[in-house]
Amino acid sequence: MLSVAVLISGTGSNLRALLEAADDPGYPARIVAVGADRDASGLAHAAAFDIPSFVVPFRDYASREEWAEQLGHRLDEIQPDLIVLSGLMRLLPASLVARWQPRIINTHPAYLPEFPGAHGVRDALAAGVAQTGASVIVVDDGVDTGPILAQERIPVLPGDTEDILHERIKPVERRLLIEVVRRIATGDIDLSAPPARP
Ligand code: GRF
Repeated sequence: MLSVAVLISGTGSNLRALLEAADDPGYPARIVAVGADRDASGLAHAAAFDIPSFVVPFRDYASREEWAEQLGHRLDEIQPDLIVLSGLMRLLPASLVARWQPRIINTHPAYLPEFPGAHGVRDALAAGVAQTGASVIVVDDGVDTGPILAQERIPVLPGDTEDILHERIKPVERRLLIEVVRRIATGDIDLSAPPARP
């Protein structure tokens, strides 16, 4: 059984979907902890599923490195097999990535390598593209540059705002995330030999 720690910053709707999937005894992964960089509303989903949660408030630390050191201590205590960044709106410093690589994955609301970074949905809209997408990737020390584990195209529709488009992307992200975690758990995806980027 694959043990998974999930890190969030926001509402945690993707976390919720993963918790629901993992609640099925037939699903080969378990969520063992949920962490956040702030008092995120999504932590309520962990409580609803009786999953331990913790907060390492980013603003309590003088630097990203000090914050990440504390986060790293918590993760070392938990010793998950896999770390899922599910809307964690912080870059992890290279030292923390190196400690866990390749066992950190991230969901992204765009079809990488298109529109990396914190505003993938906004940037796709601003570019006027006809379609964007959702991706699940392995985290490396770049910004959304790691190997792509799954991705899917999503059309941009007339009248789309950032919120409307993002809400249409998220269900796809959830489905891809649940499937990727399942495939990692069953060994169908080998994180130590991930596919190269196209
Ligand atoms: C997702 O689109 C994630 O990819 C992005 O932030 C969103 C998180 O949404 N970085 P939620 O907190 O799971 O609702």
